[in-house]
Amino acid sequence: MNILLTGGAGYIGSHTAVVLVEAAHRVVLLDNLSNSRQEVLSNLERITGENIPFVKGDVRDTTLVRQVLEQHDIHAVIHFAGLKAVGESVQAPMDYYANNVQGTISLLQAMEDCGVRRLIFSSSATVYGIPQYLPIDEAHPTHPTNPYGRNKRHIEEMLGDIAGSDRTWRIVSLRYFNPVGAHDSGLIGEMPRGIPNNLMPYIVDVATGNLSHLSVFGNDYDTIDGTGVRDYIHVMDLAEGHRSALDYLDTRAPTMSLFNLGTGNGFSVLRMVQAFEAASGKKIPYRFAPRRPGDVAACYAKADKAAIELGWKATRTLEEMCASAWNYRSPSTKTKTP
Ligand code: NAD
Ligand code: UFG
Repeated sequence: MNILLTGGAGYIGSHTAVVLVEAAHRVVLLDNLSNSRQEVLSNLERITGENIPFVKGDVRDTTLVRQVLEQHDIHAVIHFAGLKAVGESVQAPMDYYANNVQGTISLLQAMEDCGVRRLIFSSSATVYGIPQYLPIDEAHPTHPTNPYGRNKRHIEEMLGDIAGSDRTWRIVSLRYFNPVGAHDSGLIGEMPRGIPNNLMPYIVDVATGNLSHLSVFGNDYDTIDGTGVRDYIHVMDLAEGHRSALDYLDTRAPTMSLFNLGTGNGFSVLRMVQAFEAASGKKIPYRFAPRRPGDVAACYAKADKAAIELGWKATRTLEEMCASAWNYRSPSTKTKTP
């Protein structure tokens, strides 16, 4: 099937492209490269051996999206395109509403115009806000605590309204927990611009010597070792979740459904440091620092719904997550082969 990946040159989109091509789908990538690099495209071709059509453009350009849907005879869309930095969303909420909410409206308009009514949306565990119980299932109330999370919730509500208005839509919203790691080739992975906000890319920057040490935000949480606990999921497992969701859309999906994509396991910051040191052979110096505003002590998924209904489960270990993240960025991995 022909699948459009908005934001397909980004971290999760590029890994999903590999999985879908390997499953004999034809993918088309639409990305404005605001947070990704052109070189991802040649690396995707090296990995897959396929020439992957790429359109440089913005999802807010409804005319362009319509053209892409028609020209490539698109059957379904996976909508990754968006801005994703929580702190930045607090500083510049209008940019986030304009890009994330307006971008989705534009995409939906183009899809409706072209009669393409199959959509997978990249949502986030951040919609849940402060956990009221753990593990978090899909019925957990959604009280996001920042504009980025509210964007995701607004979009999910909008998708629910659209699905309710026309029963021919099939929409799946995937709430990702904490994606980390990279494709085994070391050719694609996570490469944030500037100083990373997230734990794993920060640790990798310490390992490469770009940053001197990790600040561990809080060591007095009510968790196993006092540091924050999250549900880290290998990006290739996450990518495979999209392949399962596509199958589901075409066979048995109701008009609108929501799934957590996580492992169901929580690991602390110190456990992550230890696992990364073991995988990389690098020492990660760290210092305890005050809690980061807005952080919660622990957040991990109940992943049973995806297992039962999508037939998907994360299988890769914490060691594989760390080893692949390091393989992607390690200066000693000079020759990368698909
Ligand atoms: P990413 O920034 O690597 O990828 C997003 C891509 O979208 C980038 O290549 C960027 O250039 C592109 N883009 C942004 N705005 C666009 C626009 N208006 N038009 C066209 N392209 C545009 O991020 P990612 O980690 O791959 O995240 C993908 C999606 O998953 C996002 O919607 C994000 O909110 C969501 N998500 C990510 C995480 C995470 O921790 N990485 C967690 C939960 C949810
Ligand atoms: N942490 C540190 N030091 C750092 C960075 C992070 O100690 O330099 C800690 C945090 O305090 C937290 C844990 O590492 O306890 C994970 O933090 P991340 O920033 O990697 O991830 P978050 O869980 O805060 O949020 C991420 C994305 C959100 C997404 C969410 C999904 O940033 O966009 O995962 O669960 F919604």
